Amino acid sequence: MGKILITDQLDPLALQLISEAGYEFDLAPGPWTASALAARAQGYSAIMGTLSDELGAEVFASPALQVLATVSVGVNHIDLKAAEVAGVSIINTPDVLTDATAELTLAMMLMVLRKTARAEANLRAGNWSGWALNDHLGSQFSTRTLGIVGYGRIGQAVAKRAEAFGVTCLHHQRTATGLPGYCASLDELCEAVDLLSLHLPLSPQTQGIIGSRQLDLLGPEAVLINSARGGLVHEEELAKALEDGRLAGAALDCYVAEPAILPALLNAPNIVLLPHIASATHETRREMAILAVTGVLEVLAGRRPSNLFPSP
Ligand code: GLV
Repeated sequence: MGKILITDQLDPLALQLISEAGYEFDLAPGPWTASALAARAQGYSAIMGTLSDELGAEVFASPALQVLATVSVGVNHIDLKAAEVAGVSIINTPDVLTDATAELTLAMMLMVLRKTARAEANLRAGNWSGWALNDHLGSQFSTRTLGIVGYGRIGQAVAKRAEAFGVTCLHHQRTATGLPGYCASLDELCEAVDLLSLHLPLSPQTQGIIGSRQLDLLGPEAVLINSARGGLVHEEELAKALEDGRLAGAALDCYVAEPAILPALLNAPNIVLLPHIASATHETRREMAILAVTGVLEVLAGRRPSNLFPSP
């Protein structure tokens, strides 16, 4: 029986599934660099990592390795080509985090538009002298036009929730969806909306798709939301646009060099900064762990799991 190496604390139910299937596992807490993980994982049939681990080519050189799971939907931290060449199956955790991510995205929209962080900070600092007509004014969510970039599971879940608030939703992605509200180009979408939310994977094609040009097309009343991947946005250009008043606000849950945050973002006006928590609910993290383990066990048993990446 092969052994499984796990780089972060999985839900006990997921660990129980491994034991019940007769496999042993070791916990080797990350985050790992690719070369350190390659050395540590020698002889293991499976690695279960996260997006905090650097899952580069070295990791796939181990002859014993059959499957690598990431307990995340994103796979941009994995050298997929090296995995393919080495014949290592890749498992991720789609679907189960859609609701949690959409919920947090809506919260981010409301937080930035209604300026809740500043209002709460004022209250906590003892600077609230009572209800007043012109205190802590934000901007209404329901009157916004929301542009969604990437109209897969999460993008659509965000649209559904935003529409329930009365928001008009448009969307763009590379492949035409044929659905109402589709904009053929990102520029066209940016010109048409005053709230933009990103829901597409990070890849060489999508790296830095939001920069000064797109922010200027959005305009000074607009707000940017990113709960997908930091690398989709030129962080320096975003910070500058906020500083110059060329964009009204932003809410970010992910960053180019996590966990480091660009100082210009920390100092930018009207920006909500969260520590990559879009899927961080007890319920969702449990489901992610169980889905990842189930996929690994299927591969080790010689079967094809539903969450093999890329999906068929
Ligand atoms: C989170 O960012 C994920 O990819 O699951």
